Amino acid sequence: MTLLSIRDLDVRFGSRRVVAGLSLDVAAGETLALMGASGSGKTTAVLGVLGLLPAQATVSAKTATFLDAPLLESGARRFLGRGIGCIFQDPRASLAPHLRIGAQLEESLEIAGVPESSRRATATKLLEDLGVTDPARRLAAWPHELSGGLCQRVAIAMALAGNPKLLVADEPTTALDVTVAAQFLRLLSNLAKERGLSVLLISHDLGVVCAVADRVAVLHEGAVVESGPTERIVGAPSHPETRRLFAALKTESAP
Ligand SMILES: Nc1ncnc2c1ncn2[C@@H]1O[C@H](COP(=O)(O)OP(=O)(O)O)[C@@H](O)[C@H]1O
Ligand SMILES: [Mg+2]
Repeated sequence: MTLLSIRDLDVRFGSRRVVAGLSLDVAAGETLALMGASGSGKTTAVLGVLGLLPAQATVSAKTATFLDAPLLESGARRFLGRGIGCIFQDPRASLAPHLRIGAQLEESLEIAGVPESSRRATATKLLEDLGVTDPARRLAAWPHELSGGLCQRVAIAMALAGNPKLLVADEPTTALDVTVAAQFLRLLSNLAKERGLSVLLISHDLGVVCAVADRVAVLHEGAVVESGPTERIVGAPSHPETRRLFAALKTESAP
C-alpha cells in the first residue's frame, strides 16, 4: 500500500524553479531516504507538499496524495499532528522556549484529539516509550534545561503524539552528537518496526541512510534522478549525480 505519492511536484519562488518535477512514493512501513546535495530542494519539496512554505512559494503537482487523499488542493496541514508527524533538523527550534515541555506535549495531544483528562498520562507514557528517564521531571522542565538529545526525544514525542502513519524527518541527526545520533537512529528503527511507521528521511549521511533506509531517492536540481533499494543505490549507483554526491559525502566524512 502506498502512503505518500507525489507526481511531478513543482515549487517556484518567483521565476526560480527550486523543485522541478519531483516524483516519489513512500509505501506503508517503509523508510525512504531522500538524499541530495545541499540546495537540491529536499527541504523545499517536503515543506511544499505539507503546505508549510511561505505564501510567496508556488506549489503544484500532477498528483500529491496521502492515503489517497489529495494534499495540495485541500491543504496538507490537516494531516499534521494526525496522519503525518514531522521532526526537523534542530530539535530546539521546534520547541517554544517560553512553555514547559509538558504543556507543549499536551498541546500536540490536544491537536491529535486526546481528551484533556488523559493528556498528562499519555505524555508521560510517550516519553517513557522513548527511553526518557524520570518523565515527570522532564515534563515540568523548560526547553533550555534539556540536553540536545532530550530535546530531540521530546520533538519525536510531539511528532508521535497523533499516532501518525508517516514520520517526516528532515536531517534529524545533524544537531546531535554521534552517540545521541546513534541512539536516535536505533529508536527510529524500533518505532518503524513496532508501529509499522513509514518514514521519509532527509539525510546526507550515508551511514545513517544505510542503517535505516529501505530505499533511497536521490535528488538533483529539484528532481529525483535515481531511486531504488538502499544496497543497490549505495553499492552500485548508476546516475553520475549519485556518484558525484556519494564521492563528495565520503570525502566530507573522511577524518
Ligand atoms: N523562501 C525561499 N525563497 C527563495 N528561495 C528559497 C526559499 N527557500 C529555499 N529557497 C532556495 O531553494 C533551494 C533549495 O533549498 P532547500 O530546499 O533548502 O535545499 P536542501 O534542503 O536540499 O538543502 C535553495 O537554493 C534555496 O536558496
Ligand atoms: Mg534542507
